[in-house]
Amino acid sequence: MNKSLFFAGGCFWGTEHFFKGIDGVVQTAPGYANGSVDDPSYEQVYTDTTGYAETVKVDYNPSRISPGKLVKLFFASIDPLSLNRQGHDCGTRYRTGVYYDDPSVLPEIRKEFAALERRIGAKPVTELLPLQNFWPAEERHRDYLDKNPEGYCHLPLSVFRYLRLYQDLGLMLEGESDPVARQAQTAALIAERMKFFWTGFYRVMNGHLVLGPFQGPPACFRIAYGKGVCGTAWEQRRTVVVSDVEKFPGHIACSSLSRSEIVVPVIRDGVVTAVLDIDSTSVGTFDGTDAVWLELICDLL
Ligand code: SME
Repeated sequence: MNKSLFFAGGCFWGTEHFFKGIDGVVQTAPGYANGSVDDPSYEQVYTDTTGYAETVKVDYNPSRISPGKLVKLFFASIDPLSLNRQGHDCGTRYRTGVYYDDPSVLPEIRKEFAALERRIGAKPVTELLPLQNFWPAEERHRDYLDKNPEGYCHLPLSVFRYLRLYQDLGLMLEGESDPVARQAQTAALIAERMKFFWTGFYRVMNGHLVLGPFQGPPACFRIAYGKGVCGTAWEQRRTVVVSDVEKFPGHIACSSLSRSEIVVPVIRDGVVTAVLDIDSTSVGTFDGTDAVWLELICDLL
């Protein structure tokens, strides 16, 4: 039996397209949730006086995906600290929220909200509320980005690429337990899909980071704790985004072509076991979207 959850994530064109890409989602419908007038039109909701949020009804097969996983992925598609604004769209109709019609999913969803709060270090403004009402949107809004592939989307395109990559990697890693083999496959898939200049792992071994599986030009073998971007991410146990390596004191230049970098710690049972390091030949390649999705990828490891 399929179940439903309702997600307000900003403009419903992009949010519907995002959920359509999730394995285990069987059907989606854009619409208007938790407002005050019956059967509102887009134009009415657009006035921002009806209380409605642009929302996507997501029908999913619970034997293929859990409500918690849906919420986790949803959080990687929104800015949970932005009140009544997502991307270029602002107004209460663009607030973010998770609405449920079956309270039995609440404990699992609350866990994801708590995990989100730990990750961002603040209370998200995203609502978690019972669904009061939902009216499907007009036909022209359904499957909008399939019908209009060049149409407006408030989400960066990298979100859709990362979603595919994350799900494919999850399937690939099933059944292989060797950590180096898993890192090797992860580096290869990220490099193939995202075409970064250098993508690889440094493993924590005897108090050092030691070069692990990677794709790209030869790199330095060892990095000390707290040194360079990699050693800093290890020491601070957090993702470090460097938009211009020349401005990062202590950056270790394995290649003079590298201009920006992101390093994500791989944490297992509270211990940093490795870091994922990605370099780009352009300045400013990485942002919060890369950080969130690469952290999800490192969680698979
Ligand atoms: N730049 C990294 C060293 C590793 S290479 O980028 C592959 C750092 O500063 O830690």
